[in-house]
Amino acid sequence: MRIKRRRFDSYPGSQCSVQRPRSAGETVTDPAPQHPRPAAVVVLAAGNGTRMRSKLMKVLHPVGGRSMIGHVLTAALHVEPAYLVAVVGNSREQVGPHILEQVPSALLAVQETQEGTGHAVRVALDALREAAGTTDGVVVVMAGDTPLMQGETLTGLVEAHAAAGQAVTVLTAEVPDPFGYGRILRDESGAVTAIVEEKEATPEQAAVREINSGIFAFDGAFLADALARITNDNAKGEYYLTDVVHIARGDGRAVGAHRIVDVMQTEGVNDRAQLAGLGAELNRRVLDRWMRAGVTVVDPATTWIDADVVLERDVTILPGVQLLGATVVGEDAVVGPDCTLKDVEVGPGAKVVRTHGELAVIGARASVGPFSYLRPGTELGAGGKIGGFVETKNAQIGDGAKVPHLSYVGDAEIGAGANIGAGTIFANYDGVTKSRTKIGKQARTASNNTFVAPVEVGDGAATGAGTVVRRDVPAGALAVSAGPQREIPGWTLRKRAGTPMAAAAEAALAASATSHTDPTGLARDDDSGAQSE
Ligand code: UD1
Ligand code: CA
Repeated sequence: MRIKRRRFDSYPGSQCSVQRPRSAGETVTDPAPQHPRPAAVVVLAAGNGTRMRSKLMKVLHPVGGRSMIGHVLTAALHVEPAYLVAVVGNSREQVGPHILEQVPSALLAVQETQEGTGHAVRVALDALREAAGTTDGVVVVMAGDTPLMQGETLTGLVEAHAAAGQAVTVLTAEVPDPFGYGRILRDESGAVTAIVEEKEATPEQAAVREINSGIFAFDGAFLADALARITNDNAKGEYYLTDVVHIARGDGRAVGAHRIVDVMQTEGVNDRAQLAGLGAELNRRVLDRWMRAGVTVVDPATTWIDADVVLERDVTILPGVQLLGATVVGEDAVVGPDCTLKDVEVGPGAKVVRTHGELAVIGARASVGPFSYLRPGTELGAGGKIGGFVETKNAQIGDGAKVPHLSYVGDAEIGAGANIGAGTIFANYDGVTKSRTKIGKQARTASNNTFVAPVEVGDGAATGAGTVVRRDVPAGALAVSAGPQREIPGWTLRKRAGTPMAAAAEAALAASATSHTDPTGLARDDDSGAQSE
C-alpha cells in the first residue's frame, strides 16, 4: 500500500520504451504495464463537503477501514502514474498529511479558494508543470469522494483513451436518477458534444440519463490550453471542468465516452446517508469476493469486513462479526458469533467466540471467548485458551497455556502449558508504575489469586486458592498466603437473633443434633488449590 517515490521518465505515447529509474541491485521483474502509463492522476479534494456537517473533512471519513480518499488513492496508484497530484483546499492541514502518509511522493496542490472543478485542475496542472516541466501525456482527473472506484476501471479508461487518440475521454454511466449530475450530450452520430450541468440543463437535456462520473482522461497539453479558455459565466459562477469538452469539439478534437455498467463505482458521497449506503455496498462487495475465494460467511447481512482484511481458505465467519483494519484470519479458523476484531491475527484452526479484540495475536488452534476482551499486546500461543469474562493486555500467553475464567491478565508472561485459576487478577499497576508478572511453564495457580507485580512464579510451581502472591515463588514450590480459617460457633444465633438467617441456622443445628452430621461442611484440611476446570 505504501508507495515510495513514483516518478518515471517517459510518458505514454513513447509506447514500449516505458522505463523507470531503478536503484542498483534492484531486480527487474515487473513487466511494463499493458496500459500507457499516465503522466499524472489528479485527485480533487479541495471541496468543503459542507453537507457532511462534520468537523472532519469529507474525504477523511472512514468507510470499509480506510478513509474515502484512501480508497481513491489505491485506485489511482493502480494505473501507475508518473505523478499523483492531490488538490487540497481549506483543511489542507488535515488532508495533506493523510495523503502523504499513503503516497509520500504525492504532489499537494493548494487551491486557496474553491472556484470550481476547472479551477482546481488548473491548480493541479501548475503543480505538475513545476515538478515535471510539462503537462504533456495522459492526465487522469478524479474526485476524492468516490470510494468504490476500482483501479481496473481507471485502467480501462486510460486504455480506451489512448486507443482512440482522443483529447478527452469521460467516464460515464447510465443511471436511473441522473439528478445533480452533469449530463452527457451527444450528436446524431452518437459523438459526445458537451456536458451540461444540472443547473444549466434544459428539460430535454435533464432527461438524459447518461451522466458524467467526474472522472476523465485528458491529453494533458490540450487540457492546460483549454483550461486557460474556460470562464465562470454560468449558474454557479464557477469554472467548470466539464466545459473543456465543448472547447475540444470547437477545436476539432475528438471526445469520447467510456461507459461503465457498474454505476456505483462512479457514485460520490455528499452526505452521511450516502456514506452509509456506499459503505454497505463496499462491504457487500468485499464479502462477495471472500466467499468466492473459499470463505464461509453464514450471515452477510450482519458481517462487516474491512477492505484490507485477509482471510484464508475455509475460514468460517458466524453472524454478527466485524473484522476490521489489518485483521488476518488463518485457514479453518471459526470467528463468531458476535466478535469485533481490529488488527488481530487469528491463527489457523482457532476458535473465537463473542470477543472484542484489538492488536492481538491468537495462535493456531487456540480458543478465545465467549465474552473475552483482548487488548493491545495480547499474544496467545498455539492451542492456548482465553476463556469467559477474561480481559488481557500486553500479555504473552504461551503455547497450550490457559486462562479459562473471569480474570484480568495485564503486563504478563505466562509460560507454555500453565493454567491460571478462575478469578485471578494480575495487579500490574500500583498507581505510579506498571510492572510485569511472569508465570513459569506448566505452573498451576489456583482460584482467586492476585499477582502483585513485579513478581515471578517459577516453572512447575503452584499456588493455593485465594493466594496473594507478593514474593517470587521458586520453581516447583507451593505458595499459600491465605490465613488459617477460624470458626466462631453460634455467632448468628447471638448476633442476628430473630432474623431469617438465624432461623435457618437454628433449624440446621436442630436437624444435625438428631442426625449427627456436620452441617458446616468445613471438615477439610485441604489448604491447597481448589482449581476450577
Ligand atoms: C461534478 C461535475 C458533474 C459530475 C459530478 C460527478 C463539474 C462542473 N461538474 O459536479 O458534471 O456529474 O461532479 O460527481 O465538474 N472540487 C475542488 N475544488 C473546487 C470544486 C470542487 O477540489 O473548487 C472537488 C470537490 O472536492 C469534489 C470534486 O471536485 O471532490 C467535484 O466537485 P463537486 O462540487 O462535488 O462537483 P459536482 O457539483 O458534484
Ligand atoms: Ca459531487
